[in-house]
Amino acid sequence: MADTKIFLSESEMPQAWYNIQPDLPAPLMPPLNPATGEPLVPEDLLPLFPMSLIEQEMGMERWVDIPDEVLRIYKLWRPSPLHRAFALEEELGTPARIYYKNESVSPAGSHKPNTAVAQAYYNKQDGVTRIATETGAGQWGSALALACSLFDIECQVYMVRISYDQKPYRRLMMETWGAQCLPSPSNQTEAGRRILARDPDSPGSLGLAISEAVEDAASREDTKYSLGSVLNHVLMHQTITGLEIKKQLAIAGDKLDVLCGCVGGGSNFAGFCFPFVKDKLDGQDIRFVGAEPRACPKLTRAQYRYDFGDNAQLTPLLKMHTLGHSFIPPPIHAGGLRYHGDAPLLSLLVDQKLVEARAYYQNEVFEAAVTFARTEGHLPAPETAHAIKCGIDEALRCKETGKEECIVIGYSGHGHFDLASYDAYLRGQLEDVDLPQETIDEAMKDVPDITWPR
Ligand SMILES: Cc1ncc(COP(=O)(O)O)c(C=O)c1O
Repeated sequence: MADTKIFLSESEMPQAWYNIQPDLPAPLMPPLNPATGEPLVPEDLLPLFPMSLIEQEMGMERWVDIPDEVLRIYKLWRPSPLHRAFALEEELGTPARIYYKNESVSPAGSHKPNTAVAQAYYNKQDGVTRIATETGAGQWGSALALACSLFDIECQVYMVRISYDQKPYRRLMMETWGAQCLPSPSNQTEAGRRILARDPDSPGSLGLAISEAVEDAASREDTKYSLGSVLNHVLMHQTITGLEIKKQLAIAGDKLDVLCGCVGGGSNFAGFCFPFVKDKLDGQDIRFVGAEPRACPKLTRAQYRYDFGDNAQLTPLLKMHTLGHSFIPPPIHAGGLRYHGDAPLLSLLVDQKLVEARAYYQNEVFEAAVTFARTEGHLPAPETAHAIKCGIDEALRCKETGKEECIVIGYSGHGHFDLASYDAYLRGQLEDVDLPQETIDEAMKDVPDITWPR
């Protein structure tokens, strides 16, 4: 019988991140300066990021060494286990072999510390003493709070109002690690005050919380900004997960057929699949399937074009799949998937048809989460449950076709602080939201009419 968990020793942990930029099948369109409409130069980003991270953002080196200090901290929970989901396979009656890469073992409970620790490290090297950020579900905020506490950096988190109300324990976690956490929209920034004036009960959105954090960082000498997803360097830091999966599948004597992950800004999914993209380009038959909520369907229903990363139009323009920067998604429970856009690198791979996408209602997602919890025991975050639903669907397809495929699910985080959403599901109180086309069309009216190259 094969092992239920495949471990790597600490000495087998990857020592470098993988930068996909030199291996892309098409050129990545540059971020544009909204003031000039011209490609950004590194100096444009200096008010927000340390130069070392800007260099990673634009870098073309295929491998970037992970600093020793970051490796030392990664070892608090890494390498993370790859589980074989024997009980789930049996429950589904599938001939597929299902694995899940368990990123919930980090102290903050998700994949987010993989980049939070790296970003805090480079900020510290640069002499930064305070970092501002946004958080959706609270996973990213808690990851950065953890990382900042390890590097003795002050941390200010703007947390999307709906999650702030639904998840008080995430806030307490951040505060325990020494961070300050405010609900967004807040009265602390222009961007927040503008929205509150229009809608005092606004549930907030990631796009808006980003505006608040960017404004905070740009207006203070001592503060830089940190983003938990979307940007190239963030996705690169996450590749440690996919690189580990590669080694672990080799130990299991298996070969990847399908990789399922959930997509918010795209960082966990990119981390799991980027190390395999070159194999696919070289002819290996691998599928990557990104799962998103029907309430925020940027990969399945949005346009691929330049837009702002935030509500208040403070960020550079990024070429990405976008529902419009003014789009405020319905308040579904997977708070970390409520972002209007997607990482430019992942958007490009979707556009090139190397990555597939699928959208789900929240009730079917929670049904999958409960099936998983009752077979595998682990209780996933609502975001992660999208990946599980996708993996289950793929396994059921294998049941129909009789194909013995190898399916890997990106288990991005646990749901121990999301029990209110399980409560709503178990009591039949979860709403399935269908997004009318007019809502998307309305938000798209605010997207600037900019193309590159002109
Ligand atoms: C557990 C979990 N998974 C996935 C996501 C989505 O983010 P990303 O697409 O950047 O991985 C989040 C975001 O907060 C999260 O908390």
